[in-house]
Amino acid sequence: MHDLTERPAILLASLELPSRPRRLRSSAALRESVAQTILRPQDFIAPFFVVPGSKTIQPIHALPGISRFSVDEFLVQLERAVNLGVRSFVIFGVLPQTQKDANANSASDPNSVIPSAIRAARAAFGNDIVLYSDVCLCTHTDHGHCGLLRETIRGVVIDNDSSLVRLADMALTHAEAGVDFVAPSDMMDGRIGYIRKALDLSGLTDVGILSYAVKYASAFYGPFREAAGSAPSFGDRSSYQMDYRNTSDALREATLDEREGADMLMVKPALPYLDVIARVNAQTNLPVVAYNVSGEYAMLKAAASVGALDEAKAVREALTGIKRAGASLIISYHALEAIEKGWL
Ligand code: PBG
Repeated sequence: MHDLTERPAILLASLELPSRPRRLRSSAALRESVAQTILRPQDFIAPFFVVPGSKTIQPIHALPGISRFSVDEFLVQLERAVNLGVRSFVIFGVLPQTQKDANANSASDPNSVIPSAIRAARAAFGNDIVLYSDVCLCTHTDHGHCGLLRETIRGVVIDNDSSLVRLADMALTHAEAGVDFVAPSDMMDGRIGYIRKALDLSGLTDVGILSYAVKYASAFYGPFREAAGSAPSFGDRSSYQMDYRNTSDALREATLDEREGADMLMVKPALPYLDVIARVNAQTNLPVVAYNVSGEYAMLKAAASVGALDEAKAVREALTGIKRAGASLIISYHALEAIEKGWL
């Protein structure tokens, strides 16, 4: 070890540091007492993939530790989550190809998986839980796009306005089943206003909207598309999801959705977009929700599985970073495991 006392006394004496930030880091007790960002179970929305049938648990290869559940098994998972202090859930439906068509008809079938899961969860847990449902046509269309198709002189396009009608039908179906918030993730223009109006005209004024306001076209949705069987059969989603080179577009989408009646705004993905979370949060008075998406989860799982990093510490750091950036709520596949194992 270096012996500092050998140094010229004059040098050390002249240091007189005006401030020593290290003082506040000197013990664990002190660090705990000055920590500004604390993760709590209430900060999380746990995502669930629900499939038709019963007694079904299907592990998802691309999302180690995450499975698709039939409604009965989904209820078992809700019990587990509630016992951990997580009481908010977002439901995604996964359908067999035979229930998909060009008009996304199953999206508004009250006996389809999402409404069934909503009714069962509401019956079992009442208002002790908060339910969000994904509203998007991609798991219901036979081509996997988030809107309906239309032939034009310029070729096949994702038709904005006819898609709104189907999205509103879907939202109404979830609302009538008892969801707290519908969460439109399709990225069609004007859908928040259109869905808000449809809900209000149906007397469903108490049902809220969590808008996927700022949703980028991202490579990090890869594992989700395996989980939900929702990959587009041709082309990609760049004509409706956002270009990740832009932030002005994010602020514009957030403003529009707020004006159209959204109750909460989402930024998605989360980790490569912390700057966007911070900027949207600075602009709005609505709660900002961040979606720590499937690819972000899969990356940490993969790195941990080869021993490249300590999973508990990496997950805690990643989730803390998302909250520190300004997210009030975090949708994360890590949530239940992290709380169960005491990682947070
Ligand atoms: C449906 C939807 C997607 C995700 C949430 N809702 C997939 C997509 O847009 O292709 C992705 C979530 C994740 O990756 O965890 N449109």
